[in-house]
Amino acid sequence: MADRPYTLLSCGMSIDGYLDSAGAARLRLSNDADFERVDAERARCDAILVGATTVRNDNPRLLIRSAARRAERVARGHPPCPVKVTLTRRGDLPPTAAFFTTGPAGKIVYCPAAGAEHARAGLGRVATVVDTGPGDDVDVTAVAEDLSARGVDRLMVEGGGTVLTQFLTAGLADELQLVVAPLFVGDSRAPRLVGDGVFPWTAERRAPLAGVRRIGDVVLLRYALSDRFCAEAGD
Ligand SMILES: NC(=O)c1ccc[n+]([C@@H]2O[C@H](COP(=O)([O-])OP(=O)(O)OC[C@H]3O[C@@H](n4cnc5c(N)ncnc54)[C@H](OP(=O)(O)O)[C@@H]3O)[C@@H](O)[C@H]2O)c1
Repeated sequence: MADRPYTLLSCGMSIDGYLDSAGAARLRLSNDADFERVDAERARCDAILVGATTVRNDNPRLLIRSAARRAERVARGHPPCPVKVTLTRRGDLPPTAAFFTTGPAGKIVYCPAAGAEHARAGLGRVATVVDTGPGDDVDVTAVAEDLSARGVDRLMVEGGGTVLTQFLTAGLADELQLVVAPLFVGDSRAPRLVGDGVFPWTAERRAPLAGVRRIGDVVLLRYALSDRFCAEAGD
């Protein structure tokens, strides 16, 4: 395989394994101290990737909130915030979404040929739309390789579950940072941490647990998912 970025999956879930509620309003799973930790993790990355449903439903900005961290990145010769990346089949994303309208860094939309024209028509002025060719789906391995070619050495994948599933099942994840929030969702219509798939980590091959940290009322679990796992970050 060609080069790919060090890939960190980062997300929060309820005790019963959901990423959100089934309702329209975004469920707050984490706490302020953990949001601060995530801000520091983002500051170490060259790009942040989320799925198109997360862009549409949550309208995230995906910026670095801390001025000191932005300044420190600039001092290191990086843009103040990481590049933002998303995947879409349909190419149907609002150019007014905060994903596109906030932050100085580039925005990249990967889309198969079938949706690329539609995506370019709507997003061509606010993002780089990459046509990934024939097929229904964008191949996440090809995305990782393309991002590497664009200078992304460290990629943070923040969800949702559809995207997390693909990075895990494709064997592209080097690290998982999973926050467990002290609540139950209890509604199977809500999005789960992952969907169906063949995962590299099974009863016979258990994922190495690299760290456990209590952060107020949530717990951070760190899993080392490849031999590239980098222990010093994330603390
Ligand atoms: N708790 C957390 O840490 C966290 C983090 C992020 C998100 N979330 C939650 O997760 C939920 C969304 O998760 P989700 O699993 O439903 O959706 P998602 O992963 O955010 O996005 C899925 C969408 O991304 C596009 N997509 C994914 N893989 C693709 C591929 N290989 N090729 C082309 N397009 C692809 C498709 O977009 P199109 O439909 O445009 O074709 C697909 O419908 C939201 O409720 C959000 O709040 C939680």
